[in-house]
Amino acid sequence: MSDSIVIFDSGLGGVTALMEAIRAMPAEHFIYYGDTAHVPYGPKDAEEIQGYLDQMMAATRPYSPKAVLLACNTATVTSADYLRKKYTIPIVGMEPAVKPAIEHDVDLKRILVLSTEGTGKSARLRRLVEKFDDDRLVDILPLPNLVDFAERLEFDTDAVRFDLETILASYPLEEYGALVLGCTHFIWYRDLFRELLPDHMEILDGNAATVRQLMRKLNGNIEKEGEGTLQMAFTGNLSEETAAFLRCRLPEKMEFISLDTDND
Ligand code: DGL
Repeated sequence: MSDSIVIFDSGLGGVTALMEAIRAMPAEHFIYYGDTAHVPYGPKDAEEIQGYLDQMMAATRPYSPKAVLLACNTATVTSADYLRKKYTIPIVGMEPAVKPAIEHDVDLKRILVLSTEGTGKSARLRRLVEKFDDDRLVDILPLPNLVDFAERLEFDTDAVRFDLETILASYPLEEYGALVLGCTHFIWYRDLFRELLPDHMEILDGNAATVRQLMRKLNGNIEKEGEGTLQMAFTGNLSEETAAFLRCRLPEKMEFISLDTDND
């Protein structure tokens, strides 16, 4: 098997980054690893998540990964440094797009960062905010329900709308200039957020910048010709509905595989 790029998330969130990566590198060999046996990661502690990431590294080794993309903010804040110390291949992480949001924010309006609980309370996000947020514009709002909704493929139901409308109603949105989607699962809700938020608010996510960073780390070692491949592995049961959802959104060449994971 030729060298591949592994894209990791706790479940379906990272598929949004996978789609971006395929657009940017269509001839590449991608393995997507969704740890659906252990989703959600948001409430879990770092040590537990690191154990799951070690399982992912072991299970994908036969595919000779040349890089791993953590398409998961929670996995990045808890485990990117841990993985980088332990493994020699490039580990590319993603973090909420706080910096671009502040840079675009010429009117000094407030910025609302949505994340999981784990990302929201992480020292890494706190440091990121402290580094760029001189004017104290950034508020962090953990939205754990949205991860569960996404895993159940509930993208625009009454329950989701009610949940988001209720939460957003407690924010004076006219004071906010941007919403940052700081969890890859939330990117599936971009259209719904667009509908629910006032027009002046920008919506930002980290996918494009993360894929650019992945390409920089690959340092020219990117397939330029030939047909790319895409193999999708999930540690939990893959329902018919989820398989159909993915088939509609991903290239036809995609195939589902099972990896040898040690799931308890
Ligand atoms: N999609 C992930 C993230 O970006 C994790 C969501 C979860 O499993 O709680 O943080």
